[in-house]
Amino acid sequence: MITNTELEHKGDQYPSRIISFEQDVDSIFFYTENNVILKITILRDSLIRFRYTTKGYFSKDFSYAIDKTQSHGYNQLDVIEESTFYMIKTSKVFCKINKNDAKVGIFDIDGFPILEDELGFHWEEYYEHGGNIVKMSKQSKDGESFYGLGDKASHLNLKGRRVENWAMDQYAFHKDQEPLYKVVPFYIGLHHNKSYGVFFDNTFKTFFDFCHERRNVTSFWAEGGEMNYYFFYGPKMSDVVTTYTHLTGKPELPPMWTLGYHQCKWSYYPESKVKEITSKFRELKIPCDGIYLDIDYMDGFRCFTWNKEYFPDPKRMVAELAKDGFKTVVIIDPGIKIDKDYWVYKEALENDYFCKRADGPYMKGKVWPGECNFPDYTNPAVREWWAGLFKELISEIGVKGVWNDMNEPAVMEVPGKTFPPDVRHDYDGNPCSHRKAHNIYGTQMARATYEGVKRFAYPKRPFIITRSAYSGAQRYTSSWTGDNVASWEHLWIANIQMQRMSMSGMGFTGSDIGGFAEQPSGELYARWIQLGVFHPFCRTHSSGDHGEQEPWSFGTEVIDITRKFVELRYQLLPYLYTMFWNYVNDGTPMLKPLVYFDQEDMHTHYRTDEFIFGNQILVCPILEPNAQGRRMYLPKGNWYNYWTNEFVEGKRELWVSTKFDEIPVFVKEGSIIPKYPVQQYVGEMQFDELTLDVYYKLGKEKSTVYEDAQDGYDYNKGRFSLRTFTFNGKEKEIIIQQHKEGTFETSYSKFKINLKGLPFKVKKIEIDNEKVTLEQVQLNGDNFLIIDKDFSELHIIGI
Ligand code: GLC
Repeated sequence: MITNTELEHKGDQYPSRIISFEQDVDSIFFYTENNVILKITILRDSLIRFRYTTKGYFSKDFSYAIDKTQSHGYNQLDVIEESTFYMIKTSKVFCKINKNDAKVGIFDIDGFPILEDELGFHWEEYYEHGGNIVKMSKQSKDGESFYGLGDKASHLNLKGRRVENWAMDQYAFHKDQEPLYKVVPFYIGLHHNKSYGVFFDNTFKTFFDFCHERRNVTSFWAEGGEMNYYFFYGPKMSDVVTTYTHLTGKPELPPMWTLGYHQCKWSYYPESKVKEITSKFRELKIPCDGIYLDIDYMDGFRCFTWNKEYFPDPKRMVAELAKDGFKTVVIIDPGIKIDKDYWVYKEALENDYFCKRADGPYMKGKVWPGECNFPDYTNPAVREWWAGLFKELISEIGVKGVWNDMNEPAVMEVPGKTFPPDVRHDYDGNPCSHRKAHNIYGTQMARATYEGVKRFAYPKRPFIITRSAYSGAQRYTSSWTGDNVASWEHLWIANIQMQRMSMSGMGFTGSDIGGFAEQPSGELYARWIQLGVFHPFCRTHSSGDHGEQEPWSFGTEVIDITRKFVELRYQLLPYLYTMFWNYVNDGTPMLKPLVYFDQEDMHTHYRTDEFIFGNQILVCPILEPNAQGRRMYLPKGNWYNYWTNEFVEGKRELWVSTKFDEIPVFVKEGSIIPKYPVQQYVGEMQFDELTLDVYYKLGKEKSTVYEDAQDGYDYNKGRFSLRTFTFNGKEKEIIIQQHKEGTFETSYSKFKINLKGLPFKVKKIEIDNEKVTLEQVQLNGDNFLIIDKDFSELHIIGI
């Protein structure tokens, strides 16, 4: 492994004096005496791109990560030349470029330093491969913290760590293991209550060092390509994350069923076994939407084929499962079996679609089917061909989702676990070696799969899940965190990985609930389900080489806990769907670590366990055996204990007692939480009422509920329903106002309002200025109120 400073003494080169500069609209070019060009492009007032070349000219600008459909724009751009430096000014930041050495410093508009070069840009020629090892080092500020970087299995705050980005099949990985499956070279810095971000868009193997090698230095470097990074300024972390997500793209809304519960194993076969599993869910009344077929459904692990002995009539089976509310998801790997009688292999061979070694032969490697060749998904023609392969699976057989695995790409029985570096790729017309294409191979596979599934699922929405991903993959696919282990440590890791992925723009993610390798105890499985239902993607999966790992494998207590929590997830579907809608629209992470929720509060900077699910529900998993509760930190604001409705003040540490069938869950005061009735699968029931749990607050709070047809694209034509509720609580009065947008008519006509924490007795109620008698509004018990869904203002007056 090449490290940064280890190499600094050997052959490092630095930009020399700037001799000229020029501006071309939003870009400013600085030329040094030794042929370095620094190009600074202003995309937004708080989003600036830095590109360096050492050749005296820039190579073609191409990125898989950047979402080209997104627009940018700035308010102010002034370039000022002073005697020793240049200054670029936007309405949010100043950027100072030293004439002497081209070092860059970025300051907020008050002149406070946000990110300053230490050695700045430097490089070393890479004789074996050509090109440079490109390096950057920055000064780290006092008390600085670091977040982001995708799926890293380390403390949420990366200060003191060095990480490596090289997509890798890491079976049974452990805490702090590097590298893992995904590559998101984006970090968030936070110091002096100011947050910024850096996205190093370079697909070669990259490293980030957060004060690990030197206490006050942060550095990042790549084994090739360009020094090409984007700087984001907050000062709020939420602005950094949403701008990054905007830059690299947001997903479409997934079909709502994908937010239900999924059951998986390696592997459920034959058909009778699959049916036994699905029937058991219905019999035990544990809601479930997704059932997965792992590699054994195929004929000899040949993608796009079926083992007819196990699955004689897949179309009939998939239809029967669908009748019972189950959506079938099948695995598709990149390795195509070398077999002259196999149609997929033959087609790829005839069209020359496989990756080649530098000297010409096809890249050959062993995966599940034995010796395989591998499509070059970085070639648009290959992606187009691959997309077409899904016709039968989706249009004819009725499969609803596709699971892409082994796409790091993984190769068995070789030391590097992947392709050798000389393998060639098209890289969308920018031919390169595997050193450059490795990290985006999985994303391009998932993209091709997405295009195919979307084409054939239309007018329904596609569903893709991938193991490997690079920044931007969220536009096409959801993901899971790969082959974890049934251990308490991995439950901690799963919690961190999901928060980190959320902050890294890739929020639609889950872990293998219960652990993939080894066998969980019933207690661990229950604790994992209790956390997993609060993750955007919620699937139990296991390697199947140990005991059973279905919710009923651990006795009745665990069955009941699983049912209770999965039911809660199904009740919260409109809340979860709204969370997703926020992510799709604004790039807002679905899970928010406490530091994201309140960066001003230093207590949050090193918290790992608690997180905000959506905007208003705080979750804290139990991560130890035999717990009777746990200590935890409740951030700013006032909260209600979800289980007891007890009112609790925040911004403090506290002990929360829980039973085995609970974990600490708190709801922010003033929230209006929408709930569906429990269904066994999404769309099972038509119902008359939407429950709104209203948590009293002395003051104001906004809540939203987004709904649509739960699948399809009509929402793009305005057929959605977006309700914004404003809660305003006074000592003896509540006013709830509703504002509605969109033309979608929900099937229900009433709200069942459940008032919690009401500090007064109700004297009278007015809806839209009409006084209604308590009987008319069916005041049910003390706190239930059933009213028409189209009210504008609900006024509750107390005694
Ligand atoms: C890989 C995947 C795992 C899958 C297995 C067999 O290990 O990570 O989820 O079950 O391959 O396909």
